Amino acid sequence: MTRYIKKALIIGITGQDGSYLADFLIEKGYQVHGIIRRSSSFNTGRIEHIYQDPHEEDKKLVLHYGDLSDGSSLHNIIKNVSPDEVYNLGAQSHVRVSFDIPEYTVDVDALGTLRLLNAVKDSGLPIRFYQAGSSEMFGKVLETPQKETTPFNPQSPYACAKVFSHFICKNYRDSYKMFIANGILFNHESPRRGKTFVTKKVTEGLVNILLGKQEILYLGNLDSKRDWGYAKDYVEAMWFMLQQDMPDDYVIATGETHSVRELVEYTASLLGYEIEWKGNGLEEIGFDKKSGRELIAIDSKYYRPAEVDLLLGDATKAKEKLGWETKTKFKDLILLMVQEEFKEKGLDFNEYIK
Ligand SMILES: NC(=O)c1ccc[n+]([C@@H]2O[C@H](COP(=O)([O-])OP(=O)(O)OC[C@H]3O[C@@H](n4cnc5c(N)ncnc54)[C@H](OP(=O)(O)O)[C@@H]3O)[C@@H](O)[C@H]2O)c1
Repeated sequence: MTRYIKKALIIGITGQDGSYLADFLIEKGYQVHGIIRRSSSFNTGRIEHIYQDPHEEDKKLVLHYGDLSDGSSLHNIIKNVSPDEVYNLGAQSHVRVSFDIPEYTVDVDALGTLRLLNAVKDSGLPIRFYQAGSSEMFGKVLETPQKETTPFNPQSPYACAKVFSHFICKNYRDSYKMFIANGILFNHESPRRGKTFVTKKVTEGLVNILLGKQEILYLGNLDSKRDWGYAKDYVEAMWFMLQQDMPDDYVIATGETHSVRELVEYTASLLGYEIEWKGNGLEEIGFDKKSGRELIAIDSKYYRPAEVDLLLGDATKAKEKLGWETKTKFKDLILLMVQEEFKEKGLDFNEYIK
């Protein structure tokens, strides 16, 4: 019988962050429980490497069917698992898509948090709770760089829902003396990032173009600026937040900001292209200076109805109180994502790019 140091429950375990957090906690000696949604197609690809036969006993990873839109499933799972720590990473996490499905996004990303908090509260167990807040809550920023005291000014249904979750978590912390930590995480990426998010779209798209598998890459606003970190570094910060004596709220960021345009130019340079731009707005294109080949075009469907122009985080508090600091900066992150694109296709980046 394995002796686990603690039990953690991860909502959103099949997502980018949930999968890295599960790896991290298992490595630490936790038994990890995860909530997965019923789906007509396979949705456990990111946790395949730690998946175990359901018939095995005393597993390090245990999966339960549930959903943030279904309070009864959350109550049952909390009661049956009795976790020491709960990480709420479950969300409809795509900002642009939240304009297409606003009610659903708010139901899952805002009310879902409340349902989960109630399940934890009603269990009466001394559970430590992590809430996945987002830099999108700062929206049209009222101060730069953004820190824990910067007022929120959300610009999407997704961000509005996350602001609700942030404040209901604070409210439950104060009202019921629960241990609840709000992370305010700036964008974080990895080879496991969903394919519709811009870093993955750019790294995958440009590698595909180089390999002759794609003609052109369509993007939205090239001038949005983001503070991009590495998801693997960021899940450690979530864990640190739950190991403190007192619960608190923390900004997690790299302290660097880069535009989508820079992301394209740097990724392209790793692949031997030199991007030049011509035209404006929807007519703008990016082409390779050497060959003249058009690589990037704009599609208005990727624009958000309300844009967030600039995000730049100040993670001083996390450094001072948690001892957390980002290990991976923008260029290292993009390089590792490009290298992984090659690996996934059975190719070696260094060999190919020589
Ligand atoms: N990545 C970032 O840059 C970033 C920054 C700030 C905050 N966040 C927040 O951090 C969390 C993790 O982000 P991520 O990048 O890992 O997102 P992700 O890859 O989109 O993963 C989201 C996870 O939530 C699950 N989920 C969706 N709807 C659900 C529902 N109704 N009930 C239960 N689970 C549900 C998804 O399950 P399926 O696999 O079945 O879809 C998936 O496991 C999210 O809350 C996100 O909003 C992310």
